[in-house]
Amino acid sequence: MSAGKINQQEDILKTRFIILAALAACASLPLSYGNAGAEMASASLLANSCFSCHGTDGKSLGAMPSINGKEAKYIETTLMAFRSGKKPSTVMKRIAKGFDDNEIKALARHLSGIK
Ligand code: HEC
Repeated sequence: MSAGKINQQEDILKTRFIILAALAACASLPLSYGNAGAEMASASLLANSCFSCHGTDGKSLGAMPSINGKEAKYIETTLMAFRSGKKPSTVMKRIAKGFDDNEIKALARHLSGIK
């Protein structure tokens, strides 16, 4: 195996590890909130689970897309398309499946408001 190949494999392993760690972090978050009055607090809690991959406050410094400050409608539609599988993804389908319509809308409004 060439050195380049080994490096590439190491990178793949590292990426897998980061994704698994992030998924584990998501799994430990409570995902259902009954009270509409708690929406903003819960949306910001839910959004914390996104920042391990998308950067602090959704502002990515790397290859990952930034998710802050975009149109709420765009974030909402994109998350729903990931969830249904209409938009292909590596991890976002699994992540989006953890949220119901109201949670996705709350997340979209919250992220859109972060400039
Ligand atoms: C494990 C890492 C990871 C986590 C955690 C994560 N994402 Fe993502 N996200 C990705 C990747 C990778 C993509 C590119 C699509 C794909 O391959 O899944 C993406 C794409 C997106 C996009 C599309 C951006 C664009 O404009 O194309 C949105 C919106 C998004 N994520 C929102 C979220 C939200 C909201 C959360 C938290 C609930 C979240 N993501 C959590 C990895 C992650």
